[in-house]
Amino acid sequence: MSSTVLEIKNLHVSIEDKEILKGVNLTVKSGEFHAIMGPNGTGKSTLASAIMGHPNYEVTEGTITLDGEDVLEMEVDERARAGLFLAMQYPSEISGVTTSDFLRSAINAKREEGDEIPLMNFIKKLDRDLEYLDIDKNMATRYLNVGFSGGEKKRNEILQLLQLHPDIAILDEIDSGLDIDALKVVSKGINQMRSENLGCLIITHYQRLLNYITPDFVHVMMQGRVVKSGGPELAKRLEAEGYEWVKEELGIEDEETTEQNA
Ligand SMILES: Nc1ncnc2c1ncn2[C@@H]1O[C@H](COP(=O)(O)OP(=O)(O)OP(=O)(O)O)[C@@H](O)[C@H]1O
Ligand SMILES: [Mg+2]
Repeated sequence: MSSTVLEIKNLHVSIEDKEILKGVNLTVKSGEFHAIMGPNGTGKSTLASAIMGHPNYEVTEGTITLDGEDVLEMEVDERARAGLFLAMQYPSEISGVTTSDFLRSAINAKREEGDEIPLMNFIKKLDRDLEYLDIDKNMATRYLNVGFSGGEKKRNEILQLLQLHPDIAILDEIDSGLDIDALKVVSKGINQMRSENLGCLIITHYQRLLNYITPDFVHVMMQGRVVKSGGPELAKRLEAEGYEWVKEELGIEDEETTEQNA
C-alpha cells in the first residue's frame, strides 16, 4: 500500500494576467474521493490545469506539493511520473498517434529505462480494459481522440486511468455528455480503481455521477476559492437547491449561478 498526499495551499493562478484562482486550499490523500462542484467559470478546470502544469496557467502565489515534493518545480511529464493524472474536460485530439501507442508510451514513461512493459503484457491488459469499458477494439488503433464522439473520449480517459494506475487522479467533468449506459460504464471503471492506493478529485456539476461514485468529501468552488466543504449530503443539497443558499450563507454577491441547475 502506498500513501500519497496532494496538498494545495493558498493557490493563486492567473491566465493572461487575470487572476482566476484566489487562494485555493485543498488536501487529497490516497484512499479519499473528493468531489468539487461549483458554477461555470469559477476555476475548477483552472485548478486541474494548474496541478498538471499547463503552461498557460501562471501560479502567482501558494504551493502544490505531492508527499512534500514541490509539484510546481516539476515539468508536466515529471508530474505524471510522480503519480498525478488528469482526465481533461475537453480531451485533446492527437492526429498521427494511435490510442494504443499513446497508452504504451505513457505507461513506459512511468517506468525505468530498460524496464519497458513487454508488448504481450501490454496488449493483454489493453484488451481486458477495452472489454471492461465496453470500448470497440478498433478504437485502440485509431488516432487518439480524433473523430471520437464525446462519450468515446470520456471512456478513453477512463481507459487511461485503468492503464496508468496513478496515485492521484483528477477527473474533470468525466460525466459530461455521457448517455446513461456510458455513465454506468465510466463509473464502474472509476469504482474498480477505488482503493487505498488512489486519491481522486472529481469535478462535476451533477449529483447523478455521485449516485454511482459516493464521494468522501464534497467541496464548493466559487470565485476562485473553495468556499464550503462537507460530505455527500452537500452535493445532494446543491442538486436540489442550487447555489443561491451557499451565496447567502457566505455573503457572496456577484457570482453568476443561473445556468447551474438547468
Ligand atoms: N486561456 C484562457 N484565456 C482567458 N481566460 C481563460 C482561459 N482559460 C480559462 N479562462 C477563464 O477562466 C475562468 C475559469 O475557467 P475554468 O475553465 O477554470 O472554469 P470552470 O469552473 O471549469 O467552469 P465550467 O464549469 O464551465 O467547466 C473563466 O472565466 C474562463 O473564461
Ligand atoms: Mg471546467
